[in-house]
Amino acid sequence: MKKKDVHVPIEEIQRQKDFLNRISAINTQFYLQNERRRTACTRTYGCQQNENDTEKIRGMLEEAGYKFTDDENIADLVIYNTCAVRENAEMKVFGRLGILKHIKEKKPDMLIGLCGCMAQQEHIAEKISKTYSHVDMIFGTHALYKLPEILYSAITDKKRMIDIDVSDGTIAENLPVKRENTSKAWVSIMYGCNNFCSYCIVPYVRGRERSRMPEDIICEINDLVKNGCTEVTLLGQNVNSYGKDLHLDIDFSDLLKMVDQIEGIKRIRFMTSHPKDFGDKLIETMASCSKICRQLHLPFQAGSNKVLKDMNRNYTKEEYLQKIAKVKKAIPDISLSTDIIVGYPTETNEDFEDTIDVVKAVEFDSIFSFIYSRRTGTPAAKLDFVLSEKEIQRNFNRLLDVQNAISKKKNDEYVGKIAEVLVDGVSKNDKDTLSGRTDSAKIVNFKGDLSLAGKYVKVRITDAHTWSLNGELV
Ligand code: SAH
Ligand code: SF4
Ligand code: F3S
Repeated sequence: MKKKDVHVPIEEIQRQKDFLNRISAINTQFYLQNERRRTACTRTYGCQQNENDTEKIRGMLEEAGYKFTDDENIADLVIYNTCAVRENAEMKVFGRLGILKHIKEKKPDMLIGLCGCMAQQEHIAEKISKTYSHVDMIFGTHALYKLPEILYSAITDKKRMIDIDVSDGTIAENLPVKRENTSKAWVSIMYGCNNFCSYCIVPYVRGRERSRMPEDIICEINDLVKNGCTEVTLLGQNVNSYGKDLHLDIDFSDLLKMVDQIEGIKRIRFMTSHPKDFGDKLIETMASCSKICRQLHLPFQAGSNKVLKDMNRNYTKEEYLQKIAKVKKAIPDISLSTDIIVGYPTETNEDFEDTIDVVKAVEFDSIFSFIYSRRTGTPAAKLDFVLSEKEIQRNFNRLLDVQNAISKKKNDEYVGKIAEVLVDGVSKNDKDTLSGRTDSAKIVNFKGDLSLAGKYVKVRITDAHTWSLNGELV
């Protein structure tokens, strides 16, 4: 079967770049008249894929002549790249839009854009159109590459722009990208999701699965290396499906091997893997490629087979545990993490015990746990809850207690050992401390000079917390 070409045509990308040039000319005019450059503020909600999208948004805005600020109060342009995965992610954005309304009252020329997964949903776009009239641009995930045209129209026509059209999936290559960190980078290898887990909005807001061509990915990583990057994280909602739509006889393991060959790359990470497609070939590849980090994020969501079936996850608790056992055997010091949903509508207290069971059996280094959030348009949204909110919260708290003890125990095993750390920069909590990550993705804080940022250093681990390690430079 021949692959359908899903790429946005080069001419269309060029047309968008022309809009960037036109905005840039307008912004130069503004600079000459006002003796200051126009500023843009971007905020990102949600997953790494969204972070990567924002890097593209910032790349486009930089080419359009914007300077960046973190302060909405002074920004001429504000863009929120939103997430729809849980209700609280959406509530945060609505809260901020409320604040922006007051800011805009004082600065009527300011432009506000809302994009990403939340904006892609029709009922949300409608609500914003109706009740948040100060938002000038609403565009979904499919329209990301059209930002130049949308922004140009918002600037020149001064009327609201909405683009939440659904393409059945496109790939826009060669967009400008502005990355903050030069030593490590997110690289999207595919977009969309075909899995339709019953609780999840992602397939509806991101469209069908589509893989980038391997040469485009390799080319991007080669360019990153030229700019000083040594660590890449390959991104996709289910990286195990990589290549299935390309009909090129190349799968995710083959891609990893190609990236492993790139000189200058020292660390390769990837996320997310779906347990149903996580197989022996990938385990062998992880064990045999020296640059692939000894780290795996493998979401299991729930321990009960009944709940897994209701969630449409297509694996059982036993199959999951078997796969984990294989990984541990092949890579004994692997660091494991997972995602867990507590309080899926059909989950009983007894079902939840299976989740606790898996957590205790696997001993993850860390977990990302979420209370189930009803998402309009997903099959699970129609279900009634078996448990009360109070019971769900109690189960959630118990899960955290069980895991925190395990995380601390896992981190304690590092004390006294020497770890290689890629230095990110200064620590979030203490400006006099550096922070970086081990191969196994543990955060390590230690004293050192900021000139070490982007370098690999050896650190002796002196003490362990639940979420991080402390150490000293050797
Ligand atoms: N594609 C990835 C992650 C997608 S979203 C994967 O399949 O693992 C990240 C996490 O959010 C999911 O793993 C899940 O644990 C959580 N999540 C998704 N939908 C949710 C919902 N409706 N309520 C609560 N958590 C949810
Ligand atoms: Fe959502 Fe499931 Fe797709 Fe992950 S695999 S994005 S949880 S539908
Ligand atoms: Fe959220 Fe969209 Fe990512 S819904 S988790 S930002 S794919």
